[in-house]
Amino acid sequence: MTQHSFQPASGFPTVRMRRLRHHPLVRDLVRESTLTTNDLILPLFVVPGRGIKKEIGSMPGNHQLSVDRLVDEVGGAIDIGIRAFIFFGIPTHKDAIGSSALEDDGIVQGALRALRETFKDKALLITDECFCEYTDHGHCGPLSEQGGRRDVDNDQTLPKLAQQCVSHARAGADVVAPSGMMDGMVQAIRTGLDEAGFSHVPIMSYAAKYASGFYGPFRDAAESPPQFGDRAGYQMDPANGDEAMREVALDLSEGADIIMVKPAMAYMDIIRRVKERFEVPVAAYNVSGEFAMVKAAAAKGWIDERRVAMEILTGIKRAGADMILTYFARDAAKWLK
Ligand code: PBG
Repeated sequence: MTQHSFQPASGFPTVRMRRLRHHPLVRDLVRESTLTTNDLILPLFVVPGRGIKKEIGSMPGNHQLSVDRLVDEVGGAIDIGIRAFIFFGIPTHKDAIGSSALEDDGIVQGALRALRETFKDKALLITDECFCEYTDHGHCGPLSEQGGRRDVDNDQTLPKLAQQCVSHARAGADVVAPSGMMDGMVQAIRTGLDEAGFSHVPIMSYAAKYASGFYGPFRDAAESPPQFGDRAGYQMDPANGDEAMREVALDLSEGADIIMVKPAMAYMDIIRRVKERFEVPVAAYNVSGEFAMVKAAAAKGWIDERRVAMEILTGIKRAGADMILTYFARDAAKWLK
């Protein structure tokens, strides 16, 4: 046996994990995950009218905004370092097929034009692509009866989704983000965008989106709760992880550029599995209910809001997310200063 003067450390007391925690600057050096304003995407809700800034009760600090106030809001967010935004529209009229989503002068289209003109390339404009805010029944596409059950008609929804995306791209969307969990949605949208001259517009697919109780406050904000039943016929069962891998593989094969996991906190394992398995850009949506829980507990004085919010966002990054959609974006940007 050869003799080595170097003895590999086998454990305590040679190894002391606390050694790297002793000096604060060493802690900074060995930190593995860092949250920056580049990672943040701020969701915003647009409503018709002028001068409207109506706070959403269950989402303190977040508002329904008319286009003029939306421009102010985005300007303020840019000033504190936020550069990416995702938009949800609440239209004046709803019908069974969500036709107001496809109008070139629709609510989101109008917002995009105003923002593009005001901010040029200073803001990245992402659009949520779905029909639940535009249908009178609150489901994510037109309905049909299949096997005695009324549910969203997958194949009727696809061409409409492609149309919605093209209309948004024409109005200035930089990235489209389909959230309806329809089979084949990425392929339909990719084809539609390419044919309309938007082959450069990336698709951020809500690939693994769960049928979650955490969307409650959002549905108040977007006025989009389903009027009957639930979304379990298209969104995923919270119990399933392997199924998420199949969803992601399919979306990538159809041309998805960024893969989203939603919600985030109860699905950290999914974020990690997607990142390790596919090695593609991953977005995590820290959804409305996750935000509301922290706000409510903090308002009661039960937790330290800043500490807990930053811990959650850092944890989502550590899990493997490259970017986070979060209602904490503004707060986080201020705290990061
Ligand atoms: C559907 C959509 C929803 C959310 C984002 N896009 C609601 C739903 O699926 O019911 C939820 C986001 C959140 O809770 O913050 N267009």
